[in-house]
Amino acid sequence: MPTPPPHRDNRLLDALGMLMPSGHPAASHRKKLREVEGMLPYLLEPASPGASTPTVFLDCGCGKSYLCFMLAAEARRLGVKIRIYGVDANGELVARCGDIARELGFDNMEFARSKIGNFAPAEPVNVVYSLHACDTATDDALAKGMELRAERIACAPCCHRQVQRQLKRQGHKYFLAPIHRRFPLFSDRFAISLTDGLRALALQAGGYSVIVREFVDPTVTPKNVLLIGDRSGRGSQKAAQDFWRIVEGMGIEPAIAKAMPPRL
Ligand SMILES: C[S@@+](CC[C@H](N)C(=O)[O-])C[C@H]1O[C@@H](n2cnc3c(N)ncnc32)[C@H](O)[C@@H]1O
Repeated sequence: MPTPPPHRDNRLLDALGMLMPSGHPAASHRKKLREVEGMLPYLLEPASPGASTPTVFLDCGCGKSYLCFMLAAEARRLGVKIRIYGVDANGELVARCGDIARELGFDNMEFARSKIGNFAPAEPVNVVYSLHACDTATDDALAKGMELRAERIACAPCCHRQVQRQLKRQGHKYFLAPIHRRFPLFSDRFAISLTDGLRALALQAGGYSVIVREFVDPTVTPKNVLLIGDRSGRGSQKAAQDFWRIVEGMGIEPAIAKAMPPRL
């Protein structure tokens, strides 16, 4: 079970520009705050306060890095040693996050401008995560986690455009297509669960035990699914077979296929 919700550190929220003069979170930031607070316990779970070496985290598509900073603050409060790498393709955001880390005295954080797929951390990483990394950037984060053999991978996907487009392009030829052609909303929802279901199978095939959770109330965001993989070391051949059977049956090429073990 994840740890209880984190403590709110108003000094930190202020430094991140999330508080109004009244001391309350700005309306525009309330949603992000709830998302971050929902995800934090699943990230901290594998890190133990007594450990002599830091637990190393990699945030894929960190953006403004609210999650990185709150993770660093919560770990500091709990006396847990951690180090965090934040990676984003947006150089301006990365530079700003580096400045904030220095201002706040977090010398255990490093930000890099890089595509997720190209990033090579200087040390082993224990936890790889992403919060709403756009579209196939979630696949890049999952693939990076498996490549680095992270103990935990926790990804909250964002939009699911790639598979949506592929289903439309192949003319909806699959079994459920008559419904999806008539009622596009069902098609879109189906593409979401298909994409994330295949991601979960890819994790299992890559040697992870997987749970799928809602990490925050759906009234905060409908993008509230969290894929959590814990490395078990033994890839599931059955999951791999199911993955390829579904992919071929649907006539799609999801980005996560690149992280699949070679087919036997
Ligand atoms: C929707 S924002 C989410 C940011 C942050 N995780 C959050 O929840 O506030 C997605 C971020 O992913 C970054 N991104 C998208 N694709 C990427 C890729 N392939 N490599 C690195 N960063 C990427 C974007 O630049 C953007 O900052």
